[in-house]
Amino acid sequence: MALSTGARLGPYEIVSPLGAGGMGEVYRARDSKLNREVAVKILPEAFTRDPERIARFQREAQILAALNHPHIGAIYGLEDTGDAQFLVLELIEGDTLAERLEARLQPQRGFTVDEALTIARQIGDALAAAHDKGIIHRDLKPANIALTADGHVKVLDFGLAKLDPVAAGDSAGPGGLSHSPTLTFAATQAGMILGTAAYMAPEQARGRAADKRCDIWAFGCVLYEMLAGKKAFEGEDVTDIIAAVVRGDPDWNALPADTPEHIRTLIKRCLVKDRKQRIADIAVALYIMNEAPRSDRRRCACRHPADRRRCVVRDAAGSAAAASGHALRDRSTTGAAPLDSRSGPRHRHLARRTLHRLSRR
Ligand SMILES: Nc1ncnc2c1ncn2[C@@H]1O[C@H](COP(=O)(O)OP(=O)(O)O)[C@@H](O)[C@H]1O
Ligand SMILES: [Mg+2]
Repeated sequence: MALSTGARLGPYEIVSPLGAGGMGEVYRARDSKLNREVAVKILPEAFTRDPERIARFQREAQILAALNHPHIGAIYGLEDTGDAQFLVLELIEGDTLAERLEARLQPQRGFTVDEALTIARQIGDALAAAHDKGIIHRDLKPANIALTADGHVKVLDFGLAKLDPVAAGDSAGPGGLSHSPTLTFAATQAGMILGTAAYMAPEQARGRAADKRCDIWAFGCVLYEMLAGKKAFEGEDVTDIIAAVVRGDPDWNALPADTPEHIRTLIKRCLVKDRKQRIADIAVALYIMNEAPRSDRRRCACRHPADRRRCVVRDAAGSAAAASGHALRDRSTTGAAPLDSRSGPRHRHLARRTLHRLSRR
């Protein structure tokens, strides 16, 4: 980190480093005018004359300014002292999800289902707010998610976010690397590549234009990792990781035994390689996490507990698709009759068939 304690950036006095990623260096600083602590994110010195980096930095500021949400770190300003350009951000006290997971990985244990879902719902709310404004994060990963001491989630780092792949003028086209954030912007930082490749959707890894479904993929990776206590896609180097992303399957057996079936299904639906078959809207994920289990239990009249669990899976997926107007586009679910207490043996048969197909993916 380039700035030392006591260094001044206009009215901001650097207190201590907070972190660094591929795009910026972040410091705790004191705002001497307003007499409060903030976070300042500055462009690393190596990029202060790079027009593309400067433009991206400004875009990050504008995108953050367009978002006002309790689960997205707020921006107070974009400053320029002549020597340095920096963002002044809400100071988030706490750890990143990456740090919390790291602490958990030692005993090889993820979060409990309740803990993971509490975090995942807040991430989903933040993504929904961004997607509603046409903003795609494109770099969702545990290092870009902060957890405050009182358990609140703040999604950070919209440095690679985009308004819209076409409107943003991304011209590299299929096969180009401009849609593959880390490969473009942190290619010299092997650690960063490893850190990001694991959450990159297959279409990003292939250099195709990213849309909001890449955030849904990353959301699935994060939820899997919180529960399983290990990454969904791993490898010794970036080539291995990308191969796993493009062709491999997560170790579904690593999800804890008490992971509800509808949450397993949700993760699988977020991690479908072909984005046309993937959950297309984060509202569906939120519906499945928030609403489905309760309403399904109310509606299900199957006698056997195993059948009841299966009902939850199918009905969660089917109702969510209907609610959002987005079919989940899985023949095994969309081709089936609605589930309710009248559906009897056909219902159970379809539910089993659905689960069987899912388990073979
Ligand atoms: N507002 C903030 N408050 C506290 N820490 C922050 C804040 N923003 C970022 N950080 C820390 O700095 C790290 C890098 O910030 P980030 O915005 O992700 O930069 P980059 O674009 O370089 O990845 C984060 O992982 C986090 O540890
Ligand atoms: Mg980051």
